[in-house]
Amino acid sequence: MPRRSRSPLEPLLTAPAVREAARALVEAVAKEAAQRALTPAQYERAVKEIGRRRGRPLAFPTLLAGPGCGARVRLADGTTKLDFASGIGVYGFGHGDPNLLETAAAAAACDTVFQGHLAPGGEYLRLSRALLRQAGPRLRHCWLSVSGAMANENALKMVLQRHHPADRIVAFERGFAGRSLALSEITDKPGFREGLPLRGNVSYVPFHDAADPGSTQRTLDALDAHLDRHPGRIAAMLFELVQGEGGFHTAPPEFFRALMERCRKAGIAVWVDEVQTFGRTGELFGFKTFGLEDLVDVVTAGKLLQGSAVLFSKRYNPRPGLVAGTYAGSTVGLAVGARIVERLEEEGFLGPDGRIALLARRVEKRCAALRRRSPRAVGPRTGIGAMHAFVPFDGSAELARAVLRAAFDEGLLLWTCGASPTKLRMLLPVNVSDEELESGFAILEKSLQRVAEERGLPC
Ligand SMILES: Cc1ncc(COP(=O)(O)O)c(C=O)c1O
Repeated sequence: MPRRSRSPLEPLLTAPAVREAARALVEAVAKEAAQRALTPAQYERAVKEIGRRRGRPLAFPTLLAGPGCGARVRLADGTTKLDFASGIGVYGFGHGDPNLLETAAAAAACDTVFQGHLAPGGEYLRLSRALLRQAGPRLRHCWLSVSGAMANENALKMVLQRHHPADRIVAFERGFAGRSLALSEITDKPGFREGLPLRGNVSYVPFHDAADPGSTQRTLDALDAHLDRHPGRIAAMLFELVQGEGGFHTAPPEFFRALMERCRKAGIAVWVDEVQTFGRTGELFGFKTFGLEDLVDVVTAGKLLQGSAVLFSKRYNPRPGLVAGTYAGSTVGLAVGARIVERLEEEGFLGPDGRIALLARRVEKRCAALRRRSPRAVGPRTGIGAMHAFVPFDGSAELARAVLRAAFDEGLLLWTCGASPTKLRMLLPVNVSDEELESGFAILEKSLQRVAEERGLPC
């Protein structure tokens, strides 16, 4: 395990008196919250009001309130549900984690609510160190930001400046990169950029197809064709090692290595988007899980990090003026992000025999058993580590949503991914317990049966 150096602020956040006070505050809030619950009518009104105010209803009536516990989230009406969606990957250690909440409470009391790049605090240093510690020797720098999209925007600017006047990006079909104007174009989903002006500077290549033995060659050929068609104009290729929105597809390391080596030969940047995979694949970075440390130039992280970051090699360090911005993150987000990285390292989550690898085996087993019992309702599982998905029934969006709704009613939060087929995805807390997994899968099975019964489908 890499050695961890202490930041000047660490002793403050972990000082016994601070910790004790933070614990008292967390306990007081939990106690107070547990005594409060909206009536069903109040809850419904509040959920509707959120929808009205933001101009779009919530996907599910989920208004969170403490105190949650592990994978169990408590809603503001006092009911609890098992949360296997984690706010699309944000609640990496589940709900109500005492250690993270105490860290948050202590950090919140430090000095400022948010930290800027002009005058950051110790949490900024602590998080930067934690990330770079795990990134390997090539990635020398780290620029913090608040959302995955902002980290990817920064990465995009770095690769474009470095390779100017090359202005094109190669990306995978079905990939997702974020919601900014530029990233909506890199994202291969027309519905996500409806009405936006396009620059037309993205070239797509097919992602790996396990059913096609010539898949790697096909994608290499497509990359070569783009390189030939736009000589000197391609700045980078973007890699999403496990396609998140696209359907939790992944590929063998050799597929990524062959493409990255081709990028290296062509002199274009290898940019890896780990916004969703960060902390979930069995290593802090998926590129380590896939053994690609020697090939990555720029990598972005987000979600489970409680903020976002781009890490980059010396060669991609931009000239002053290109990458800046007011916020680096909230003090709480930075401190908890650093604590999450430390816990992943210290509590045995990482490595081929780590807790995330073990979790993956447990989920694989449960999915396989479910499939044996309900072969018409449960398709093959895809994913890795703490992120898994499967095709329910015929893969239609309508049936996937019906299972989501049934699962919600029965007490389980899931989310969808992919299109044709639409899958059900689980972004599990990395510390999900056996009991929670068992209960969640029991609800999932019941929900699948309920949808089958309601619609007269074979299960
Ligand atoms: C792979 C990937 N990249 C980028 C993003 C954008 O992150 P954010 O929503 O924090 O801007 C996401 C979010 O789902 C993602 O999954």
